[in-house]
Amino acid sequence: MRNRTILLRPAVAVLVGLSAATATFADVKVGDFGMTDDGTPVKVYTLTNSHGVVAKLIDRGATLIEWHVPDKNGQMADVVFGFKDLASYGSERNSYFGCTVGRVANRTAKGKFALNGKKYTLAVNNGPNHLHGGIKRSLDKVVWHGEPFENKSGQGVVFTYTSPDGEEGYPGNLSIKVTYTLTDDNELRIDYEATTDQATPVNLTNHTYFNLSGAGSPTILDHEVMLNADHYTPVDDTLIPTGEIAPVEGTVFDFRDFHTIGERVKELDDKPGGGYDHNFVLNSRPAEPGARGSLTLAAKVREPKGGRVLSVYTTEPGVQFYVGNFLTGAEGKNGQKYNYRSGFCLETQHYPDSINQPNFPSIVLEPGETYTHTCVYQIQAE
Ligand code: GLA
Repeated sequence: MRNRTILLRPAVAVLVGLSAATATFADVKVGDFGMTDDGTPVKVYTLTNSHGVVAKLIDRGATLIEWHVPDKNGQMADVVFGFKDLASYGSERNSYFGCTVGRVANRTAKGKFALNGKKYTLAVNNGPNHLHGGIKRSLDKVVWHGEPFENKSGQGVVFTYTSPDGEEGYPGNLSIKVTYTLTDDNELRIDYEATTDQATPVNLTNHTYFNLSGAGSPTILDHEVMLNADHYTPVDDTLIPTGEIAPVEGTVFDFRDFHTIGERVKELDDKPGGGYDHNFVLNSRPAEPGARGSLTLAAKVREPKGGRVLSVYTTEPGVQFYVGNFLTGAEGKNGQKYNYRSGFCLETQHYPDSINQPNFPSIVLEPGETYTHTCVYQIQAE
């Protein structure tokens, strides 16, 4: 199918070879990415910055499908998991690759919660628990409305979706806006907003899998990770937090200094989740170096050979660090296999099962309030 270029400002010129300070962004390209089974068209948006960094997004699940970034030698690679076609996104092979997750990301114990004296039942789709917003109409599976834009920060897409009252068992009509912006600092910034007409739990995140050697490379065990967290939330056998906020000190969860993923992960082989798949409680110290305004540095990941470094900043109190323990070799976009522990996720969010855990920060959104959440993924090379 033919790609269509939307001209956002008729006068915008594509200037090649200028420094970052003076370069003008090229137009966002919009193309067709196929049609869902019920005949809904899905678009693909291509964002480009002046360094030649390219990110692609689709309307289904407001999903990041490609992100091409240079290594220390200028060699480009696509570092995120994804598929070339829409049907694969709807298949069993898709383990939430690159999508927006919600209404409530992560696990809710037994798929049950109570709010304002009323009991709610959600789909149980992960052992005895609810995971990532449900089965058919969770936010990763619905088709969002995308509007491309270009402003002084970069190029992006605003995705909107209104989840009707009762969808996947959640109360209230929830209007959601997810804005992705690719900046000239090689950042992919994700800004979330939501409003409701009834009290309802909301915990949105993004589920991108990274391999900084290039998606489809065999492992991430050599990647070095720093997590800005003195504490984490231990879990029971079904990955529901016990309620404890435990120190990482003296445990395999201590990533306050860089450790490779492979160094200690084997100690978790026989534990629930079969590896790192835990929520880390972020240190909130915005005055520290590394913090940017209200954004806290959550994590840094370095790939030692190519030198790509991912930094993650967020306004959220937690980050789920998952190292692909459930990956089983699904075939990805260029025929590569996404094998066991060949990708990792850093999902900025509130803690799992928050709606049932009185001592965790609340995820209840009330009418008249606006849910906001920012996550910045930046990839540089050193
Ligand atoms: C999340 C969970 C993992 C797993 C993946 C999807 O990150 O924490 O346990 O379910 O999603 O496979």
